[in-house]
Amino acid sequence: MNSLGKYALIALLCFNISEAYNILVVFPMPAQSHRNLGDGVVRHLLNAGHEVTYITPYIKEGSNPKLRQIKMIYDFDALPKPHIKTIMNNEQDFNPSNFFNYTLGTHQAMIQNKEVQKLLRDPQQTFDVVVIEWLFSELYSGLSAVFGCPLIWVSSVDPHSAIMQLIDENLNPAYNPGLMSTVLPPYTFVQRVKELFMSAVTTVLKNYIFVRYERQAYEELYVPLIKMRGRPVPTYDEVKFNASLILGNSHVSLGQATRLPQNYKAVAGYHIDTNFKPLPENLKKLLDSAKNGVIYFSMGSNLSSKDMPEELKKSLLKVFGALKQTVLWKFEEVLDDLPKNVHIVQWAPQPAILSHPNCVLFITHGGLLSATEAVHFGKPIIGIPVFADQFLNVERAVKKGLGKRVDLSYSMADDLEVALKEILDSPRYMERAKELSMIFHDRPTPPGEELAHWVSHVIKTGGAPHLRSPALHTPFYQKMYLDLIAVIVVILIALRILVRRICNSCKTKKLVSDKKYN
Ligand SMILES: *[C@@H]1O[C@H](CO)[C@@H](O)[C@H](O)[C@H]1NC(C)=O
Repeated sequence: MNSLGKYALIALLCFNISEAYNILVVFPMPAQSHRNLGDGVVRHLLNAGHEVTYITPYIKEGSNPKLRQIKMIYDFDALPKPHIKTIMNNEQDFNPSNFFNYTLGTHQAMIQNKEVQKLLRDPQQTFDVVVIEWLFSELYSGLSAVFGCPLIWVSSVDPHSAIMQLIDENLNPAYNPGLMSTVLPPYTFVQRVKELFMSAVTTVLKNYIFVRYERQAYEELYVPLIKMRGRPVPTYDEVKFNASLILGNSHVSLGQATRLPQNYKAVAGYHIDTNFKPLPENLKKLLDSAKNGVIYFSMGSNLSSKDMPEELKKSLLKVFGALKQTVLWKFEEVLDDLPKNVHIVQWAPQPAILSHPNCVLFITHGGLLSATEAVHFGKPIIGIPVFADQFLNVERAVKKGLGKRVDLSYSMADDLEVALKEILDSPRYMERAKELSMIFHDRPTPPGEELAHWVSHVIKTGGAPHLRSPALHTPFYQKMYLDLIAVIVVILIALRILVRRICNSCKTKKLVSDKKYN
């Protein structure tokens, strides 16, 4: 190769490697787990050399010259939050329209933000792609119409109809649980009918009722901005169904092997920073010296254990005190009369604890991030679900053999004792956790790199139209061949009429000829 060619090749390689894009990332949900998902996306995009503008209710410490953060002010108390006592008394009500209103509230908070307004109103401001967490409403897709760039949704849970219909079609409810579902297939007849009913209700609510508010909001909030930039104004439905990709926080090791369109990419585990800080000295000593193993107990961040009834705390401590293992309990308050083997910490570096070889069990609320971390580090779980998708996550973990489920109740200490005994006495849970962990890690590319790859693929290919599913624009009646059925029915009716006419005329002719004879 001559030297010119060599330089050209090097230049080409450099160009490919260092191609930096300008990306808008929006994670509006004010909840710790959603924040972790957003921070993970931002981290991988920055590592890939891109410039990121990040709209979030939280601000990350430390500065990166390529990162610009915009803090959304939001009334945190408006968030539908679980409360231990209401759940224990079975008073939790689950209403999709609460979530819908809530999403509209977060959208309002984002759009009213001064800095966001500045971005939107500055005609010089452009982005190569917008990456937005999907939550019950597609109104945020208006951002892609304003900036005239491709749109990528991030889905925080396993694939479900409400999000898959945005790039493909509803999943078959006969074997795919809906977003609000709490049971896993295989379904009984009654469950299957219920799933179909829920799927139909959700579709009607979303696509015919809620969408009216969204269309109106799109007209008011986004259309003037699109016009200001001198771009042709697409309809809300054109924008809403125009996503290039879904990055899904799902993986078959935990979820189900659902068939999926080409522009759904399962990247669960990307949020886990594999360069986590080592354990602080006191925790390291505790874990290192626990000869019989450590049980890590954390109910996550959106459920306050302070609200736990007094008698429940006492009965839990009694169960833990009788174990030979060390129990590390992440709890927001100091408890008196702690048994010797129980340690309470207000803050816990979860990945560092789970990765420790002496950690033998994780008692968790079963949030998807915690469940994913359990599989990442190969630890069995006891799931105590309290909210949203946690019931389904724990059901899945139980079905996979990763652990047991215990329900929140006043007598849960007894159930917990039984579950603890079974998991700690039988090696099969730990073996299964290691096996699932191997499946989780056995991928051609780590999930964070895969995420960054697909984001830049979407930009490079102008929205990746080649990945889009033909099902998206095939009307329901065509998929179900309802038109063919209609044609067949019409032909059958016509035939019947024809046959009747012929018979009738035969009969009359016969009658006439009979009469002639008489
Ligand atoms: C849909 O997305 C593609 C690719 O991002 C873009 O080129 C096109 O303009 C978008 N269409 C509408 C109606 O927004």
